[in-house]
Amino acid sequence: MSERKSIHGEWSSGMAFFLAATGSAIGLGNIWRFPYLAGENGGGAFMLVYLACIVLIALPILIAEITLGRRGRESPLNTFRRLALDEGRSRAWAGVGFIGMLSGIIILSFYSVVAGWSLEYIWLSLRGAYQGASADRTDQLFSMLTSSPWQQMFWYTLFLALTLIIVARGVRKGLERAVWIMVPLLFVLLAMLVAYALVVGDAHAAIVYLYSVDFSRLSGHAVLLAMGHSFFTLSLGIGAMIVYGAYMPNRLSIMRAAISVAVADTVVAVLAGLAIFPLLFARHLPVAQGPKLIFASLPAAFGSLPFGFLFGAAFFALLTLAAWTSAISIIEPVVSWLVELGWSRPRSVLAVGSVVWMSSMLIDFSLNVWSGITWQGRTLFDLFNFVSSDIMLPLGGLLIALFAGWVISERSLRQELRMNRGALRLWLWVLRYVTPVGVLLIFLNALGLIRGAL
Ligand code: TRP
Repeated sequence: MSERKSIHGEWSSGMAFFLAATGSAIGLGNIWRFPYLAGENGGGAFMLVYLACIVLIALPILIAEITLGRRGRESPLNTFRRLALDEGRSRAWAGVGFIGMLSGIIILSFYSVVAGWSLEYIWLSLRGAYQGASADRTDQLFSMLTSSPWQQMFWYTLFLALTLIIVARGVRKGLERAVWIMVPLLFVLLAMLVAYALVVGDAHAAIVYLYSVDFSRLSGHAVLLAMGHSFFTLSLGIGAMIVYGAYMPNRLSIMRAAISVAVADTVVAVLAGLAIFPLLFARHLPVAQGPKLIFASLPAAFGSLPFGFLFGAAFFALLTLAAWTSAISIIEPVVSWLVELGWSRPRSVLAVGSVVWMSSMLIDFSLNVWSGITWQGRTLFDLFNFVSSDIMLPLGGLLIALFAGWVISERSLRQELRMNRGALRLWLWVLRYVTPVGVLLIFLNALGLIRGAL
């Protein structure tokens, strides 16, 4: 166990860590991204590959991130540098922390735009804006929103401001206090929405769709998406879980904490599917709509179901809450690093916030005034979403796995993890061999190299 203390403070209990890390993990990924990815890539088969990636690739890295964080007790960048020096290795490992911060900024810039849509939809739901509307009409409503740069800007600026206020208040007074309220509320809302969907929706069709496994619909690219999403949904690859681990009290078991977070996150992804698809199927709405699934199709379902405007508002409130507790974890790695450079927390938050706000503006414009600018048919929004989650996160994760598995000595890991020797060996073996090889194979497969060679 390391004697180091974090200058940023510490979570007050195991529950506080669990809520913070679960709040980070559960986000747009579970409720917005996962359903549309599963919808587009063949339902059940995609789900199975995703689960395999969670167990064999993401969970071992989650354990590694928390362990590194708690041992270094600094921002991800400084943690990498310090732990590498401890082991007599190159300080260049700090570069992994640096790339992570960049990925975080890219992710947050489209994340906040989507969270902004979600905020606006709470308001639209309460106003009854899509009451009785057809799917074409709700699709149009959504296009109107994304084609108006200023309206969109208003909402993501509001979302970013809400996020920055919490981070500016620090670990105990900001992050911890926020998650104590928001995460339990999130579970209550989700339970309510699942119950609603099962009562008024077509649960049977949803279950057949989500759980019938048809591997013929699964491409190499889909496997890459499933892996990228396993990183995205557990907040891996940028150091978010490193920094949350840096605030974790020494007495807590890392293994137990990591498993609880992964289980809670997966349960929420499954429940989110059960809250959404029965409604879509009940109204025969299109399910393979990509990133606009939740905003273009789902409102048409709410608009024609009993108390739809209320449950619609609850749904988008859930989505906003989930995004909010995640967004704070995406910028904390950068903010904590600036604080370690000697800046005050409010100033660091303002600096990071301005950069993110400007790159959100790029994303905003890419959907309207600059929508003509594309690269291989993808807008900047699609590119940021794809490149960060499906390329940068797995690469970051791969480097983290190599660092924890091969650079840090087994003795140091044992001191920090303090667990049963057999379980530790198993984890380390998976982290050293299975995880990196898995990431590489999936990359090659997506590039078509393996299939080309066969
Ligand atoms: N896990 C969150 C979600 O599912 C998003 C998120 C939070 C994230 N922190 C992150 C993604 C760090 C990647 C890296 O929506």
